[in-house]
Amino acid sequence: MIDIHCHILPDLDDGPSNMEKAVDMALLAVRSGTTQIIATPHFKNGVFEVSSEMVIDSVKMFTRVLEEKKISLKVLPGAEIRISPDSCLLLDQGELLPLGCSRYYLFELPDIFIKEGIITLLRQLRQREVIPVIAHPERNRTIQRHLEMIPEFIFENALFQITGKSITGENGKRSFKIAWNMVKEGQVHFVASDGHSIRHRPPCLDDAVKAVKKAGGKKAVRTIFEENPAKILAGSVMSGVRGKRVI
Ligand SMILES: [Fe+2]
Repeated sequence: MIDIHCHILPDLDDGPSNMEKAVDMALLAVRSGTTQIIATPHFKNGVFEVSSEMVIDSVKMFTRVLEEKKISLKVLPGAEIRISPDSCLLLDQGELLPLGCSRYYLFELPDIFIKEGIITLLRQLRQREVIPVIAHPERNRTIQRHLEMIPEFIFENALFQITGKSITGENGKRSFKIAWNMVKEGQVHFVASDGHSIRHRPPCLDDAVKAVKKAGGKKAVRTIFEENPAKILAGSVMSGVRGKRVI
């Protein structure tokens, strides 16, 4: 399995505070069936000052440690980019880091936002052939009140990533309900752990896989957990990016 959203790099954001804890997360991820992780530290969220160079250097260092310890987990660079009025400018200046060196970027919506502002950004991204993946919409306060925005954003080329713990109900009833509604409507393109530590939001997807398998069968699991993430890493464009269901 490929986990496209995980805060696993040591001492960069609110993920593991040191290498030992990062290695513990890697061991747990491998035990739960994950083979590749895109490391996505918080980026431009006003709290953590992380640059693309810092992420790339950290991935190199972490990879060396994993190899030394014979832990078979591939870690790729990425970022969880908080959407702001200057997101497009930062992209044009080359300051934003894509997911695994692809044309896909992981964006986090602000808690409160104006729909038209996001649609304008999505159109600007499309002009630049950037494919936005929106992180955990089921946990966003504005989306929770305006579910009608989900298909509108998909129509504007956005893909959606749900958190594994929302699928299993561990993020509360509201996120659980929205996540499953999105699965049933074919609006979930990825499920990722958004892991932060071995205890709080661990980097594991196995429980979410079991739940999706029970509800939607092996095909749904293959699409959401394997094929779609693999398309990011292969640099290919997913089908269904114009609002067509992918499952
Ligand atoms: Fe995150």
